[in-house]
Amino acid sequence: MTSNTDPFVHVINHPLVQHKLTLMRRKDASTNSFRTLLNELAMLMAYEVTRDMPTQDIEIDTPLETMTAKVIDGKKLVLVSILRAGTGILDGMLSVVPGARVGHIGLYRDPKTLQAVEYYFKMPKDMQERDVVVVDPMLATGNSAIAAIGRIKVLNPKSIKFVCLLTCPEGVAALRRVHPDVAIFTAAIDRQLNDHGYILPGLGDAGDRIFGTQ
Ligand code: URA
Repeated sequence: MTSNTDPFVHVINHPLVQHKLTLMRRKDASTNSFRTLLNELAMLMAYEVTRDMPTQDIEIDTPLETMTAKVIDGKKLVLVSILRAGTGILDGMLSVVPGARVGHIGLYRDPKTLQAVEYYFKMPKDMQERDVVVVDPMLATGNSAIAAIGRIKVLNPKSIKFVCLLTCPEGVAALRRVHPDVAIFTAAIDRQLNDHGYILPGLGDAGDRIFGTQ
């Protein structure tokens, strides 16, 4: 695993995150346990990604007295899932921030060129008022993330962050080169990309492992 000193790249090395990631990597993890672990991991990662979310003060009554307390406006947050594997992270994050809006981008990797090809794009209204978190379990070549973020930038949101479970030095470098303003949150930076665009040692095809389609 590669270490990292780039302040825009956040490797979440909390023991719970690392433990669950190890269980997911094992080739004998069942589809059910892979999906459950991804959900739990996404909840833990949501905690880090939303750390700087703005709060506002409201007046509430406790059973004993009135006080000023903080709340977040979850509706200002848009979670954008890159289909289809992004769904696995989206579900876990939504259970922590249920008020978030959701956008979807359908992209598939052309198996020959490894380039991202778009087939679906649907975002909430008023994107210029919202903070965006783009989710996709694997940042490999970076092509999908780069294309998705490029499309979202046209809508001029307040901020964009990118969350993945796993990445590699090639993926980080590609995304940082094209979108240097977008912070990356990941559970690990693995050794390298192979010739087929898979991360090594990695965890295989995340979509197949989430949906049991291998
Ligand atoms: N997508 C995956 O699902 N796995 C990889 O290793 C790379 C891209």
